[in-house]
Amino acid sequence: MLDRSHNAAPLPPEIARRRTFAIISHPDAGKTTLTEKFLLYGGAIQMAGQVRAKGEARRTRSDFMQMEKDRGISVSASAMSFDYGGWRFNLVDTPGHSDFSEDTYRTLTAVDAAIMVIDGAKGVESQTRKLFEVCRLRDLPILTFCNKMDRESRETFEIIDEIQENLAIDVTPASWPIGVGRDFIGSYDMLNDRLELMARADRNKRAESVKIAGLDDPKLAEHVPPQLLEKLREEVEMARALLPAFDRQAFLDGTMTPIWFGSAINSFGVKDLMDGIGGFGPLPQPQSAEPRQIGPEEKTVAGFVFKVQANMDPKHRDRVAFVRLASGHFERGMKLHHVRSKKPMAITNPVLFLAADRELAEEAWAGDIIGIPNHGQLRIGDTLTEGEAIRVTGIPSFAPELLQNIRAGDPMKAKHLDKALMQFAEEGAAKVFKPMIGSGFVVGVVGQLQFEVLASRIELEYGLPVRFEPSQFTSARWVHGPKDAIEKFVNSNKGHIAHDNDGDVVYLTRLQWDIDRIERDFPDLRLSATKEMQ
Ligand code: G4P
Repeated sequence: MLDRSHNAAPLPPEIARRRTFAIISHPDAGKTTLTEKFLLYGGAIQMAGQVRAKGEARRTRSDFMQMEKDRGISVSASAMSFDYGGWRFNLVDTPGHSDFSEDTYRTLTAVDAAIMVIDGAKGVESQTRKLFEVCRLRDLPILTFCNKMDRESRETFEIIDEIQENLAIDVTPASWPIGVGRDFIGSYDMLNDRLELMARADRNKRAESVKIAGLDDPKLAEHVPPQLLEKLREEVEMARALLPAFDRQAFLDGTMTPIWFGSAINSFGVKDLMDGIGGFGPLPQPQSAEPRQIGPEEKTVAGFVFKVQANMDPKHRDRVAFVRLASGHFERGMKLHHVRSKKPMAITNPVLFLAADRELAEEAWAGDIIGIPNHGQLRIGDTLTEGEAIRVTGIPSFAPELLQNIRAGDPMKAKHLDKALMQFAEEGAAKVFKPMIGSGFVVGVVGQLQFEVLASRIELEYGLPVRFEPSQFTSARWVHGPKDAIEKFVNSNKGHIAHDNDGDVVYLTRLQWDIDRIERDFPDLRLSATKEMQ
């Protein structure tokens, strides 16, 4: 269990100002728009529309990205850093589609909090729920943004009830909307007794803020029409009586979420949300590791790889390992210890992801995400330190739910297929199993869409058309136990045995019954659906 009391120790100011978080949402709820407004307020872009424009330019470069665009989903994650109000925000993007849930899970190991965006008319949707569950596995603090209040939305109480009931989390209103749809004029800031008024004329303009002395302040009537004011007073009174008040500890424990109501496209409510992340969002948190956890206040540098992205530039076979710094002050050129291989690594070209650009990272602090270009030495789950043999834990690999055989369209190029598959396995994009008997590979994924993305990436990045064929197997389990017991098991089950890209033994089957039987017949062995990445 992670001991978070570490945070009681004062952190160096550079670390204490870091806020590292992700946004989770159902497609179309407004994640991209909100990200764009964050960057706008963070001064990282000058004009709304740039994120999309850059995205578009990048996408036209490849069919893979075209596919992403056609489907209206985001399959690749990235990190963005920007400053706001004295804080340094590190925003890590998560794929919204559930077929990439494993990637999302790992991304969430690199953040300290998540923002859940929901559409005010639709409430909690299927992806919201799935991604929320992933956050819950890690007890991540969650801030909720109820978007699109400028459109017809549900009643405020109904939205709050739905979140409480569907997600089993306490909800406390940080703001209360005034009017809805065409009548939406702004919100009442419940935490600071302020009236926030939305400017409809200019979508990029910040809201006008009016300081008021509670709901009886006569100033309110100057800005809010009488019928809306009456409703607001009634609702806020009810909310205060019926809903829990903001409790920072409950929020940090992940059992309470504050909710803001706004409209990302109109830049409304965004600044309050950012003030919320900065003001009471968690500071960089300790990281679970073996043999001891890593505290952000520690002087020496430690970090771990939570994502590897290969071929970001198809012209170069480069890979970028995304590293979350868990402690210390990193400076460019540092020689770090690569714990898995026990070898030193000079980090000469680390990159920071400022808005949509990559930039050399001269320095970074605990909480930051840096990219380290490499030729394959860095894998998901790897730890880098200043010498200590410490290994970050809690970055699992999940057994795939769908298995298929893969064949090269051109048999002459089968060797390239080996290489491509190894690369995607290390990137975490798929599980690749080499059966003991027969030729070829079995590829495993969580969602069908991953097969399609994989096929188009292999064709695009390696010039190799491939096809997937049904496999006789439907489940894969890693085999753990004493070496001789595993050997004996392997020899008597060759037709079901494969090895993953790390050389670990995997049992393939189509029957749950088989799995139960083996656990009974081989009591020394354990079959597992997850494996720690290292
Ligand atoms: P996503 O990343 O979560 O998938 O959502 P995205 O930001 O792309 O937003 C989805 C759609 O919702 C976009 O419209 C966007 O303009 C719209 N939207 C976002 N925030 C608000 C809001 O506060 N109010 C209203 N009314 N709409 C909002 P689109 O038509 O799909 O794209 P576009 O043509 O506007 O770019």
